[in-house]
Amino acid sequence: MAKKKLNIGMVGYGFMGRTHSNAFAQAQHFFDLNYEPVLKAACARNEEKLKPFAAQWGYESIETDWRKLIARKDIDLVDIASPNDTHMEIAIAAAKAGKMVMCEKPLGRNAKESKKMVDAVAKAGVANMVWYNYRRVPAVTLAKQLIDEGKLGKIFHYRAKFLQDWTISADLPQGGQGLWRLDVGVAGSGVTGDLLAHCIDTAMWLNGSIDSVTAATETFIKKRKHSLTGKVEPVGIDDASLFLARFANGSLANFEATRYARGHKALYTFEINGEHASIFWDLHDLHRLQYFDHGDEGRTRGWRSLHITDGDHPYMAKWWVPGLQIGYEHTFIHQAADFIDSLGKRKPASPTFKDAYATDLVTDAVLKSAKSGRWERPKT
Ligand SMILES: NC(=O)c1ccc[n+]([C@@H]2O[C@H](COP(=O)([O-])OP(=O)(O)OC[C@H]3O[C@@H](n4cnc5c(N)ncnc54)[C@H](O)[C@@H]3O)[C@@H](O)[C@H]2O)c1
Repeated sequence: MAKKKLNIGMVGYGFMGRTHSNAFAQAQHFFDLNYEPVLKAACARNEEKLKPFAAQWGYESIETDWRKLIARKDIDLVDIASPNDTHMEIAIAAAKAGKMVMCEKPLGRNAKESKKMVDAVAKAGVANMVWYNYRRVPAVTLAKQLIDEGKLGKIFHYRAKFLQDWTISADLPQGGQGLWRLDVGVAGSGVTGDLLAHCIDTAMWLNGSIDSVTAATETFIKKRKHSLTGKVEPVGIDDASLFLARFANGSLANFEATRYARGHKALYTFEINGEHASIFWDLHDLHRLQYFDHGDEGRTRGWRSLHITDGDHPYMAKWWVPGLQIGYEHTFIHQAADFIDSLGKRKPASPTFKDAYATDLVTDAVLKSAKSGRWERPKT
């Protein structure tokens, strides 16, 4: 029997527009889905650039205004892969039109925007999800399983870093494709909302909610030329952001993100220390999980490097044969497959808008603490 179609309207053809298009195109080849994802329409303002993107990825049509995309009866799911300042307006309009909504992270430019988005999808009763894709690295999902099974015991420490080095040059402008991340009006914040948001989402998924934070941020380059206005303008984003946190389970944490760590392109790592065992994960080695089990026999006890490629590892039975690893793009394929699989089920696939709102409450508290110099609580 032919499967019911899930018609997708993709907003944005940039970095994430490509990862999501690939995810929806591939998911049905590897996962048994109840719906057939169809790349129905690609949407962006620049028709000249949009056309070759749509042709390359096999979209059936294009739209240059997201309002027209949302108004179309043949679109079931609106997927928002455009900059942060567009998320709220598009998501709320899509929900009001009864569309399912998937949205890139951070959900809003701040928690106030996110809350409006959470309310809109709740009121409309539409399926929703946010692309915090690192949860679906098989090694990270395995870490979640080990923690939930109690293998680590009581958790004492959580340590996360996300380091990059691409904005060190003072000549780099702010604003425009990719560089919108340096424009606070578009991005909402700097590395706090861009990089730490990933670390916080993973951390709260693995280790529960965050009670309070104390932070320091810095903007190393105070003025940059704006690509769109041509004028030198103040830089409003945080270039680096560090914070300490107390989790509700009593564990202590430190988080660090920067775009000024020369030599690091996308070094996302986390380490968790529990009573019985510890875990370490590194995005540059994403198919491995480092695991130390204090219960091992003393003479051979040590850090094990687990190669997460076996059929009994999360998601891996769907891929190749044991020993052959998968990569970054697969995290998005897993997320698309999980979202489609959740449709019509009682339990929505996480992270939902509500889960992502919780992350935005923490990033807001981090930015607030960096200003106040005090411990702050993520508050609604
Ligand atoms: N999950 C992740 O790991 C991850 C990684 C990178 C980016 N992101 C998020 O994805 C989003 C997009 O980032 P990116 O790196 O793909 O940016 P990008 O600059 O590469 O692409 C943005 C796209 O949005 C389009 N766009 C901008 N304004 C629009 C509008 N009004 N209507 C329609 N289209 C519009 C642009 O034409 C472009 O195609 C951001 O929210 C970002 O934070 C997430």
